[in-house]
Amino acid sequence: MSYLCPLCHLPLLPLATGLRCENQHQFDRAKEGYINLLPVQHKRSKQPGDSADMMLARREFLDAGHYQPLQQKVCEIFERILPVHSSSVLDIGCGEGYYTHAVASRLQARGESTVFGLDVSKVAVRFGARRYHNVDFCVASSHRLPFAKQQFDAVLRIYAPCKAEELARVVKESGYVLTVTPGPRHLIQFKALIYQDVKLHDETPEEMAGFELVEQHSLNYPMQLTSEESGALLQMTPFAWRARPEVWGVLATTTQFDCETDFTLRLWQRKSIEADVIAPLSSAEEAVVEAPATDDDTEGEGMA
Ligand SMILES: C[S@@+](CC[C@H](N)C(=O)[O-])C[C@H]1O[C@@H](n2cnc3c(N)ncnc32)[C@H](O)[C@@H]1O
Ligand SMILES: [Zn+2]
Repeated sequence: MSYLCPLCHLPLLPLATGLRCENQHQFDRAKEGYINLLPVQHKRSKQPGDSADMMLARREFLDAGHYQPLQQKVCEIFERILPVHSSSVLDIGCGEGYYTHAVASRLQARGESTVFGLDVSKVAVRFGARRYHNVDFCVASSHRLPFAKQQFDAVLRIYAPCKAEELARVVKESGYVLTVTPGPRHLIQFKALIYQDVKLHDETPEEMAGFELVEQHSLNYPMQLTSEESGALLQMTPFAWRARPEVWGVLATTTQFDCETDFTLRLWQRKSIEADVIAPLSSAEEAVVEAPATDDDTEGEGMA
């Protein structure tokens, strides 16, 4: 399996130092092993995606193990639905690779499996590639996935933006997309510190043209966070820039902050590709070229 050139969409072929297409567009491999496939003309900002501060906070928080139940649940689902002998998986918006490497380890322990991690944030991908060597990492935008049609048995998307058309293009017939989004009460205690009027997360499933919703799971549990952990959690969410200094102060001086997590996992299966001819998927290939490169979209409040 190979990458496609983000500029002309031809396959990228291996060179000693990186990858190159027939049109001589060349992409060097970084010393950490990842490939940067985000041309400057596709960037909306100088450093799209999560910042270094957000990424470091995310790594500190995830390393403390509070989201390990989610990591395990994601691995169990992939282990159950994917073929044993060989599989190919893409993690979109993989961040620093916490879930990506766990999925790769579980699948590779029982057969051949290629796991790709893609994120628009170079700093996140660099950290991921430095630590996890069982994943193929690339810097790219989810709005222009640098992969050919029907390459993946499954795609993982944990709190990251991506249009259904792009997912439908790269997932094989009968393949899967597993999405994780905030459930109604996700981090509600944080919201209560920041907002006067706390609303529950909307539970309506998104539209996923070309896919059928085949499973839905809720995973919720309480967490007891130290002041460092609650600060790191706040830092890695979009709440961070809305939180007044008093909120940071409360977290810094609260030795145990009790907070709920509530995740919604949805498993979508790719419908018959033939059905697309009857109801075309609004020309996904063209959409990739024409869609504005919104690098750092977020997907609603409370992502973490
Ligand atoms: C909330 S974080 C989740 C990271 C990881 N999935 C996790 O749960 O630890 C969202 C990630 O999506 C990335 N992201 C945002 N916009 C993106 C885009 N257009 N293409 C690819 N990644 C994007 C961010 O850089 C960030 O790493
Ligand atoms: Zn090219």
